[in-house]
Formats: sequence, structure tokens, C-alpha cells
Amino acid sequence: MRRLLIGGNWKMNNGIEETIKFASGIKERKLSTEGIDVFVAPPFTSLPEAVRSFKGTGIRVGAQNIFWEDEGAYTGEISSVFLKELGVEWVIIGHSERRTYFGETNAAVRKKIEKALQKQLKVVICIGETEEEREAGRAKEVVEKQIEEGLLGIEYREENLAVAYEPVWAIGTGKTPHPEEAQEMHSIIREKLGNKGDGIRIMYGGSVKVHNIKEFITQEDIDGALIGGASLDIGGFVEMINVAKEI
Ligand code: PGA
Repeated sequence: MRRLLIGGNWKMNNGIEETIKFASGIKERKLSTEGIDVFVAPPFTSLPEAVRSFKGTGIRVGAQNIFWEDEGAYTGEISSVFLKELGVEWVIIGHSERRTYFGETNAAVRKKIEKALQKQLKVVICIGETEEEREAGRAKEVVEKQIEEGLLGIEYREENLAVAYEPVWAIGTGKTPHPEEAQEMHSIIREKLGNKGDGIRIMYGGSVKVHNIKEFITQEDIDGALIGGASLDIGGFVEMINVAKEI
């Protein structure tokens, strides 16, 4: 049995004050995460506070990106060594916004994953096709290529790596694939992952909300959700965690 994994990708939201408020809101609601894994990924500057504030809540802390070197002349970048030093556990790599706005390629994604795993950070690699690619009937091909070039051949333990399938056209749009369509892609992804596929968690991401999370995470090959916009609402996030706990 794969443990469900729920991630809140805060993107460029929630500074230090809001992070403190969020964590207190979680504590007030006496959330339990028993039986599942949960993390939030705040922006870099909120990470130290997040590590402090979420202690004891069952919610782990992740980053939204790293650079693939340990240190040196890389202006503006953040190394996995610094994240480890902070007590960060997870890192999201290859999010479509990084690929689109910052030109991240599969080759860059691969280097980042190798480094993160080497430093004992747990990785969520994001993959997914654009609307154009989907309409051209290339979704499967694109996703398989992202796995091949970004991931295959890297050594990892199954519990330290998760894949998030996030169709780009579903991110922040309110549009989603039908849960069965997502399931189909997840099973293709699992097959592509080869003999380790069975133990790896494959999350769905893209307009996951309180009202639709259940239909996604009850699919056979969907092992959790990466939630953007809807994870910023404390009440909603707690509700979604509770839905996952019931499964
Ligand atoms: P969304 O974002 O839930 O706001 O669609 C998901 C993501 O980008 O991870």
C-alpha cells in the first residue's frame, strides 16, 4: 500500500507573518495527519519560520526549487545544503511554472533531482503536458519524455521520490481532466517508471479543490495531490487532508 501524499504548493504566496498565521490556524484546528504524509512548500524566505511553526503539527516543510551545486558563484540560487541546514525535508522540482518562466529543461531537472537525493531531501518531480500538446495528441509522449530525460537511471529509494502529474492546462484554471483520464495517465507513468513504479507515489495536481479531491485520490494509481491555490486556505487545506485520511 502506498501512503497518500498531500502537498501544498504555496508558490509566491505567504510571507513570514502569513506563515505564522497559517501554522497557528492548523494548530487551532487540531489537525491529525495520521496514516498519510503532508507537506507545505512556502517561498524560500518563509522556510525558517515554517520549519519552526509547523513543528509538532505533522505537516512537513518543502522548498519549491533548488540549484544543483552545493555553493559558489551562482547569483540568486539556493543550494540543497542550505535547505538541509534549515530542516527542510521536501523539494518540488520541475514545476511547470519553472519550466515555462525560467526555462528549466529536463536536463536541469535531472541535475537538481540528483543533487537533492544525494543530500537526502525528498523530491517531488512535476511533469505534465500543455494544452497544445494535448490537442496534438502528444500528451503521453511528452510526459514519457519528461520522465526519461529527467529521472530514469537516477538511483533513489521509492519513499524519497514522488511524481506529480500536473497537466499544465489544469494549473490555476479550474479545468481538470476527468479523474479516469488522469488515472489513465498515472498508470502510463507508473509503467514508465519500471520496476520501482509500484512503490512510487504519483500525485495529481492542477485545480484540486475541496469538492474534487476525493474523486482523484480514490483512483487506483493516484496516490495524493499537489495543491496550489486551494492550499492557501487553511480551512480548505485541512478539509482536503481529512478527506485523504478517510481513504
Ligand atoms: P493549482 O496549482 O492547484 O492552483 O491549480 C497546482 C500546482 O501548480 O501545483
